[in-house]
Amino acid sequence: MKLEFPKDFLWGSATASYQVEGAVNQDGKGMTSWDKYYHMPNRKYNGDVSTDHYNRYKEDIKLLSEINQKTYRFSVSWARIFPNGSGEINEKGLQFYDNLVDELLANNIEPNLTLYHWDMPLALMYKGGWLNREVVDNFVEYSKVLFTHFRGRVKLWSTINEPASEVMGGYIQGAHPPLRKNYTEALQVAHHLNLAHAKAVKLFNEMNMEGEIGIVLNPIPIHPASNKEEDIIAAKRAYDFYSDWYIAPILAGKYPEIMLEECQKKYNSPKIEPGDMEILKGAKVDYLGVNYYMRRVVANNPDSTGNIDDCFKNVRVKDGNYTEWGWEIYPEGLYELLSRIQKDYGKIDFYITENGMGFYDKVESNGQVVDDDRLDYIRQHIIQIHRCLEDGINIKGYYVWSAIDLLSWTNGFEKRYGLIRVDFDTLERSIKKSGRWYADFIANNYIEY
Ligand code: BG6
Repeated sequence: MKLEFPKDFLWGSATASYQVEGAVNQDGKGMTSWDKYYHMPNRKYNGDVSTDHYNRYKEDIKLLSEINQKTYRFSVSWARIFPNGSGEINEKGLQFYDNLVDELLANNIEPNLTLYHWDMPLALMYKGGWLNREVVDNFVEYSKVLFTHFRGRVKLWSTINEPASEVMGGYIQGAHPPLRKNYTEALQVAHHLNLAHAKAVKLFNEMNMEGEIGIVLNPIPIHPASNKEEDIIAAKRAYDFYSDWYIAPILAGKYPEIMLEECQKKYNSPKIEPGDMEILKGAKVDYLGVNYYMRRVVANNPDSTGNIDDCFKNVRVKDGNYTEWGWEIYPEGLYELLSRIQKDYGKIDFYITENGMGFYDKVESNGQVVDDDRLDYIRQHIIQIHRCLEDGINIKGYYVWSAIDLLSWTNGFEKRYGLIRVDFDTLERSIKKSGRWYADFIANNYIEY
């Protein structure tokens, strides 16, 4: 069977500033929270050089063009534009993104710009980061500069990448800066991220910007570990916690009621000021960006300490197909997830803003990476996209994570995702088998199934 895709479907791949750019001290960039974090004692790696995309973007875009990318998703480093988080603009920082965008356009690659992919200017982190409500206005000030500067050239915009990861990594698990483990703070940070997003969307519309604006979420489909009622309840709670807590404010301007009540009772958070929910409600997105990697299977946790994410526990499925990093490969989950979102909130446009497989790549003696597993992972997910389209779920584009090998936040350079390989000793690039396959697929725009 031949699975054909719409002619204007945008096929591409993605990266994020801190993970790929390197050049952390170049051209007046300010320090970010991650620069600080990776230079704390006992850190084994950092993004100081990484893929050095900042200095090699031309070569990288040439490779992206060679593998037929129609679009490229990247993020801007806030601290390159505002080294102190706000106030004085660093023209050289803007110049880099000018060059990048112009080079993409010259190669017929549609730029998709994410305003914030976790690298908070350190100066703002010292003010309290997203916990400080003032940072919301700093974000709007920063967004305005980019909207003004790239008006007409960038047509696809995302405000924030994965608020859920920022909240969980930074404020619940204490694994990302600022290394906090505090539910009251976490819930407040989530609310401020939503406000920042909503105010940027409002500004985008007031400025009559051409193009589309959305947010990138990482909702996760959740399956109960059994048919027992307690597991079904646990799965519902887990969906609220991982997914709906972030979807509902974006698509409906509200928080899931039961969880909100519980959080306000237990943690006295989030504090919602008068007018906030109207701001969220008023910020209609043009699309929802979805990063999809895996599903979760959860069971009731009899040993719960009473915290919101403690009444369920993640379990491993007996016959599940897991990556070397323990992420379950479950392509159907993409279809299940988008169907559910559409069922809950009505029809909306989607972009799959990240999807990919991280593992230890092996380099053959001839220097090639024959990454059949990654190729198959991407292929399987593209088949699910077709299933969605057939079912009336409007996906407009798909981005492989990642365009090129880069730094994995908590796994360093071992866990690879790229369609393009980077030798981190020489910084030489080469296209992997998955990249060649993806290029052919894009040229054909169908899959033989
Ligand atoms: C997404 C992030 O959550 O997952 C990316 O947006 C990240 O920035 C990707 O790299 C893969 O995660 P990891 O931890 O395997 O690198």
